[in-house]
Amino acid sequence: MVELTWLGHASWSLQIGEHRIVIDPFLSENPSAKQSPGEIDADFVLLTHGHFDHVADAAEIANRSNALLVANYEIATWFAEKHDVKNTLGMNLGGWAELPFGRVKMTLAHHSSQLPDGSYGGNPGGFLIECERRLYFAGDTALFSDMQFIAPEKIDCAVLPIGDLFTMGPSDSVQAAKWLAPKCVVPAHYNTWPPIEQDAQVWADSIRQAGFEALVPEVGEAVSI
Ligand code: NI
Ligand code: MN
Repeated sequence: MVELTWLGHASWSLQIGEHRIVIDPFLSENPSAKQSPGEIDADFVLLTHGHFDHVADAAEIANRSNALLVANYEIATWFAEKHDVKNTLGMNLGGWAELPFGRVKMTLAHHSSQLPDGSYGGNPGGFLIECERRLYFAGDTALFSDMQFIAPEKIDCAVLPIGDLFTMGPSDSVQAAKWLAPKCVVPAHYNTWPPIEQDAQVWADSIRQAGFEALVPEVGEAVSI
């Protein structure tokens, strides 16, 4: 069993056995967050791309927890050089990384990836995580038809953005679910600010009508996958 907790926006924590993984930590300046970076301990920090609303608290959490920061090569190098993060693993699209809790593939995302100081942030991505479950975090992305090839085997849980404006919106995420065919779908990247407000229950109904389970955790709520 994997425990998935929404930290608000596109920030997630995962408990996989004894391992704590944090994805895209954005807390201190996130109006929807209920925890501060000082309250989050992690063994691994995974970053999908370089935008502020995904990396803002990564250095603080990684440095305090002595976590391994996993990101594309450009972002991993930037954190090592600009924020003195000691343990980094740079990877790139299509590659797998073997980690103590399972293996992680960096998947395609159609988006952009500039770092907060304007540095080049490489290509944006998502993560396919294989452990005792198979989880897919799409990251910030538009809908793209190659999603149907993301995982040859059944995805237990797909975390998809639904906020629209900066990423795909609710209706495109229903099409994404059809292509991914996961057991359950969890929404992300919405209700942080007014421009990305969405009614997650309406969205969940449309996911269920398409034949998939929808899980809509509150900020701070853990769901079991
Ligand atoms: Ni972004
Ligand atoms: Mn974003």
